[in-house]
Amino acid sequence: MSATHRRILLVSRPRGAASLDNFRLEEVPVPVVGPGQLLVRHHWLSLDPYMRGRMNDAKSYAPPQPLGEVMIGGTAGEVVVSRHPGFVAGDRVVGMGGWQEYALVDEAGAALLRRVDTSIVPLAAYLGPVGMPGVTAWYGLSMICAPKPGETVVVSAAAGAVGSIVGQLARARGCRAVGIAGGRAKCDYVQGELGFDACIDYKAAPDAAALDAALAAAAPAGIDACFENVGGRCLDAVIGRMNAFGRIALCGLIAGYDGTPVPITNPGPILRARLKVQGFIIFEHQDIWPWAASELAAGVASGRLRYRETVAEGLESAPAAFLGLLRGDNLGKQLVRLA
Ligand SMILES: NC(=O)c1ccc[n+]([C@@H]2O[C@H](COP(=O)([O-])OP(=O)(O)OC[C@H]3O[C@@H](n4cnc5c(N)ncnc54)[C@H](OP(=O)(O)O)[C@@H]3O)[C@@H](O)[C@H]2O)c1
Repeated sequence: MSATHRRILLVSRPRGAASLDNFRLEEVPVPVVGPGQLLVRHHWLSLDPYMRGRMNDAKSYAPPQPLGEVMIGGTAGEVVVSRHPGFVAGDRVVGMGGWQEYALVDEAGAALLRRVDTSIVPLAAYLGPVGMPGVTAWYGLSMICAPKPGETVVVSAAAGAVGSIVGQLARARGCRAVGIAGGRAKCDYVQGELGFDACIDYKAAPDAAALDAALAAAAPAGIDACFENVGGRCLDAVIGRMNAFGRIALCGLIAGYDGTPVPITNPGPILRARLKVQGFIIFEHQDIWPWAASELAAGVASGRLRYRETVAEGLESAPAAFLGLLRGDNLGKQLVRLA
């Protein structure tokens, strides 16, 4: 084991779009493991859109990421030294170790560390389809969209970590799955590989009328449920085509994460179609985690649930990969390989 390791701190807050100079890479000694503690070597770092929100000093469902500290982030790795009774060296674990190559975990942190079985599901998948993004997809679809067989479900950011799972679960529940994604290549993946019934390339629809026409063609019987990841003009278009008593699971508003306003310009159908619009934060639904994760793990292990990963190599690549994720450079789950 090397004597030093690298970590990335948040050193300034963005004004508008985040940039590389908001982050600083530094090299520090690998921590010494004390009684009751353990040391995890990270193999994978998860990059997720919520991190952009934490970079702001703003009121939200979680406190801001403090300046000068290691960036928050989900990690998967291996216990390399343990002086904690619940873990042994070699355990594969998933936690919130942050943007760094090693993490020292104390008694309190160990309670949040999850040992995982990599004999049926690869370690990295615990950060994607069988981890937070997959469980988010499962919760929003099953508990809020609650679609019945034969209904039409629309999901935005459909080629991403969450959206790709939403559409496949909707298909498995007997629904028509319609994706919205940026670019022909992403739509080809969503339809051809993930098996969605249709996918709309929003970048090829320059205005509201074009997006509406594309939705009308892809969802000829109207939309019963929407799993919303983006906001702005995608959500506006979907609201206009919702059927009576439709459900909208408001999972994310990534079109606004850099400060761009994402107004709902046409709220009339929410009233006229008696829609339910419900936001949710997956970390508040720990109770469904084992339940959802076991369905997702079975899907991944059997090959029924398909997924892709976009992998950046080395910790130093994390800031650029994160900015790329916010621009849509990723296909599927954005990861950084650390070991
Ligand atoms: N509520 C919760 O608890 C929870 C949990 C996890 C994730 N989320 C949310 O779920 C959403 C998806 O997260 P993810 O991890 O699966 O990310 P992801 O979809 O893998 O990646 C983000 C995608 O967003 C799309 N995007 C970015 N800017 C956009 C814009 N201006 N307009 C339209 N699309 C844009 C891009 O795809 P295109 O190339 O297709 O544009 C990009 O690939 C995010 O909004 C995230 O915040 C919420």
